[in-house]
Amino acid sequence: MNPKKRAGIAAAQYITSGMTIGLGTGSTVYYMVEEVGRRIREENLNIECVTTSERTSEQAKQLGIVIKDLDDVDHIDLTIDGADEISKDYQGIKGGGAALLFEKIVATYSNKNIWIIDESKQVQELGAFPLPIEVVPYGSEHLFKYFQEKNYKPTFRLNDTGEKLKTDGGHYIIDLHLEKIAHPKELAHELSTLVGVVEHGLFIDIVNQIIIGTDQDIKVIEVRH
Ligand code: 5RP
Repeated sequence: MNPKKRAGIAAAQYITSGMTIGLGTGSTVYYMVEEVGRRIREENLNIECVTTSERTSEQAKQLGIVIKDLDDVDHIDLTIDGADEISKDYQGIKGGGAALLFEKIVATYSNKNIWIIDESKQVQELGAFPLPIEVVPYGSEHLFKYFQEKNYKPTFRLNDTGEKLKTDGGHYIIDLHLEKIAHPKELAHELSTLVGVVEHGLFIDIVNQIIIGTDQDIKVIEVRH
């Protein structure tokens, strides 16, 4: 079984009936959502879910998973999501799938967050994966220039037809090719103060548990922030 599938299936076993679940986005989450669908069909699992992207909503609806609007639930018991990089002190970069804004909102209002990854996502230091910044289109060229001046090596993310990609929230993504992020908390703070930045892909002190799929088995890391 491929490692992402192994991690996704393992994570879905943490869900029990009565829970409100946040469903993340991405190719690892895909397997977790499929397993949730199977458990609903075959094990009478009774849950309601909120999602972090239109893509995940589509998949979940096809599997008969009950989807609620985030503002119609009073809490989220558990969110299971992927990650692009996780450092040795368990900070993360997310947003490779352009869903970072909704992912961060759902994660923030979740009682517990599990990230599911394969081993390639574990790094010593964040930054080899380009850091996604979700920005308001209006004035975004000025923000782009600001990032250039700071030597953050920005690129606008493009869609399949070569236009600037629009997120589910109607924003653009600027990817910063930083290579190394020595001080993630400081950078997160700086990015949060910039006008026009809606959200950034640094997920600081958010994850509670990490499930790593390997070729043979899974590893589970309990994280204490
Ligand atoms: C989407 C994300 C994903 O969780 C992240 O990109 C990991 O995706 P995958 O499981 O496909 O490697 O942050 O915005």
